[in-house]
Amino acid sequence: MAPQPTDIEKLIDDTSPLLERSVGAGITVETRLAPNLWWVQIDAAQLENALINLAVNARDAMSDGGKIEIWAENFRLSRRSKNQEPNLIPGDYVRISVRDNGSGMPEEVLARAFEPFFTTKAFGDGSGLGLSTVYGFAEQSGGGVSIDTEIGEGTTVNLFLPYAEKTESEARDTAPIETDGKRESILLVEDNEDVRAFAATVLRNLNYTVIEAETGDDALIMFEKTAVDLLFSDVLLPGSLNGKALARTILARDPALPVVLASGNWDLANSGGTSDVPEQAIILQKPYTATQLGAIIQNLFSKQIAGRVGS
Ligand SMILES: Nc1ncnc2c1ncn2[C@@H]1O[C@H](COP(=O)(O)OP(=O)(O)OP(=O)(O)O)[C@@H](O)[C@H]1O
Ligand SMILES: [Mg+2]
Repeated sequence: MAPQPTDIEKLIDDTSPLLERSVGAGITVETRLAPNLWWVQIDAAQLENALINLAVNARDAMSDGGKIEIWAENFRLSRRSKNQEPNLIPGDYVRISVRDNGSGMPEEVLARAFEPFFTTKAFGDGSGLGLSTVYGFAEQSGGGVSIDTEIGEGTTVNLFLPYAEKTESEARDTAPIETDGKRESILLVEDNEDVRAFAATVLRNLNYTVIEAETGDDALIMFEKTAVDLLFSDVLLPGSLNGKALARTILARDPALPVVLASGNWDLANSGGTSDVPEQAIILQKPYTATQLGAIIQNLFSKQIAGRVGS
């Protein structure tokens, strides 16, 4: 292994033609890379090999053809959670997911999938070394790998690869990336860890600084300690402050602060309705997509700038 800071975006682009050839006709390969992907510390040849292994497995699982999607996005793990898989050390990673809409794996296959020489394929068709090699590569890189699979629906293999600083020559050569965020800081309050990780990734990819809190009470402490340019909070939160109460408390101290509250109709109904939602708070319907979240935040900040220029 020769791990080096590696530009994933370039590697995936360069490997795409080879992947398409390996899976053959009848199967399309689609790549979706999040903007501003971090670099990772890996052996590039081994990642190419891993992607080919995963694409070939996906192909074999889709006897009638189908689609392979390769997604990549920045992934920050702020702390270890109980049932987290794989067992990663908290830190920054890029998650590369290879998903197919093929056969899926029965439980007994999933349980043994990473075992060397475990295969369900006919003698001569598979050696059972593909996934064990991918596993070894991810672990030795200081990352990990996990599988989500559903019979008849398909399989997603997630590779988590550790963050690396860009090499100096590259950093110098690359012009700064134009992004919408101007490093404004957003206080993100959400008790669901997956939702919070999703929102944080979206906002960081837009170049905002994100301060994360799990409860309204924690958020208030952070608000007192750091400069915050926008509050984005879930409505239903554990602890003594729900999102609406948190917004009211914070707005009492900073009346001009933009506020977005994320809520399903059910959440609002179960926390006393809309009557105590602060007037300037904007409601973002849950579940929201990355695009909806990005648009609402960018819109608020641009209005704020316009307001400042106008006054
Ligand atoms: N995308 C997938 N969908 C469904 N089953 C899969 C998928 N990927 C792997 N498997 C199952 O896991 C087993 C092990 O996969 P692995 O890549 O390690 O070996 P193989 O594909 O059988 O052989 P080799 O990769 O060495 O040619 C496969 O035989 C298959 O049963
Ligand atoms: Mg294989």
